[in-house]
Amino acid sequence: MTTSPSQQKAEPMVAIQLLSACRILVINGKGGSGKTTVSTNLATWLAKRGETTVLVDTDPQASASHWLKSRPENLPKIFGVKIEPNSRITRSFQWRAPKSTRWLITDSAPGLADNALNDMVQNHDLIIVPVLPSDIDIRASARFIGELLLTQTMRQKRRPIAVVANRVKQHTNAWERLQKFLLSLNIPYPATLRDTQFYVKAYSEGRGIADYHQQSHERDRNDWDLILRWLDAQMEKSLWPDIENSSTGVLESSNAS
Ligand SMILES: Nc1ncnc2c1ncn2[C@@H]1O[C@H](COP(=O)(O)OP(=O)(O)OP(=O)(O)O)[C@@H](O)[C@H]1O
Ligand SMILES: [Mg+2]
Repeated sequence: MTTSPSQQKAEPMVAIQLLSACRILVINGKGGSGKTTVSTNLATWLAKRGETTVLVDTDPQASASHWLKSRPENLPKIFGVKIEPNSRITRSFQWRAPKSTRWLITDSAPGLADNALNDMVQNHDLIIVPVLPSDIDIRASARFIGELLLTQTMRQKRRPIAVVANRVKQHTNAWERLQKFLLSLNIPYPATLRDTQFYVKAYSEGRGIADYHQQSHERDRNDWDLILRWLDAQMEKSLWPDIENSSTGVLESSNAS
């Protein structure tokens, strides 16, 4: 496990299952759907609230860790945790975060299935699935969401899931097909993210939409506002204030999306 240069030295690290935090898994079996873009941007919005925010990078490609390394020092701090698949350090020891963590966002690798997928779901409270509007992606994502819902953990205790439609070009056939797919899922899709080079630029600068001027990119800021509202609504349902007394995460009592 490695941590960002800004990792707090004094604060004890706690196993993620024991954190009094909201743990959000950003996942899709399909590569390139926008997992890292959604994870990094979400982290910037949550860090901006002034609460301890952790970005866990479980992908050997290390795109989220790379982004964090290039993040300017003067922006709201995001703590990085890198999970190394072939490390001699045990996985449970790697899956730790500062005790004060309020928000933990995990950027996952593509292609997770079976036990690895189940283990990942088990350690999180909420799931966000970015989906691209192409036939290949829609088919692959439908299959993946099916697998997700059938994991042992989800059958025992359903975590709230939302789909984020990514790189959407409105009024295209692909977007219409994606909309039909989303409606058929009966899973909320609180927002769509448009296809814009702004996300590419933000990634290369270690920033998210939240880090730019309030006046700029209003349309994109509104998209994120909708995602954050969905997130906060899940927290309210699960009695967010009680987390101070909880030892097993915030959404223990929640069972629906
Ligand atoms: N809304 C968007 N508009 C424009 N470009 C985007 C958008 N979302 C993602 N991208 C670009 O698409 C590429 C893939 O996105 P990203 O890395 O977030 O996907 P991923 O699911 O994490 O990929 P992987 O499965 O390889 O980890 C990146 O170059 C990213 O900058
Ligand atoms: Mg990625």
